[in-house]
Amino acid sequence: MLIGLSGKMFINLLLLKTGMKTLVVYYSRTGNTRKAAESIAKHLNADIDEIIDKKNRTRKIIGWLIAGKDASQKKLTEIEYEKNPDDYDLVIIGTPVWAWTMTPAIRTYLSKNKFKKVAFFCTSGGSPGKVLEHMRELSKKPLAKLSLVGREIDDSNKKIRKFCTKLQ
Ligand SMILES: Cc1cc2nc3c(=O)[nH]c(=O)nc-3n(C[C@H](O)[C@H](O)[C@H](O)COP(=O)(O)O)c2cc1C
Repeated sequence: MLIGLSGKMFINLLLLKTGMKTLVVYYSRTGNTRKAAESIAKHLNADIDEIIDKKNRTRKIIGWLIAGKDASQKKLTEIEYEKNPDDYDLVIIGTPVWAWTMTPAIRTYLSKNKFKKVAFFCTSGGSPGKVLEHMRELSKKPLAKLSLVGREIDDSNKKIRKFCTKLQ
């Protein structure tokens, strides 16, 4: 407990020292990427913003099939979000893995925006493919990358802390 707290304070202090204004942005269909995003934002004391895909992706089997097809065909989609990435020095962007690549919502967000500095993370079922490379191709070299398995999110604190220390 004491070690965890001091580690977190250390990271917050580092970021205060560098003065980077940081935003964590994510898309999540079933909550795994949201959990990871919330944990990263808490560790870094960063702002957080959820990207909403205006296309209905909640339907079970058909929604899953269309989501996979849209992702593999590199489709863009209509998205909504609140915070302007231009206002931040560092934007940390998270996606679930769909068909070994990023979701249409994150593809659209990366295509529409330019960033000063970025970092990427993803959650998957265990086969992330080259999703983080694909994100880099659409954007720029990230300060750090993190790949998590969705069902293990609750035990990922150590990996998340390590990722956060690379963001100085
Ligand atoms: C349409 C679809 C395609 C998926 N494709 C992959 C995949 O290629 N590889 C993988 O490991 N997991 C795949 N998954 C599993 C998700 O990446 C994983 O459950 C993720 O943590 C979900 O994040 P979320 O809860 O934030 O939506 C897929 C899930 C969906 C819905």
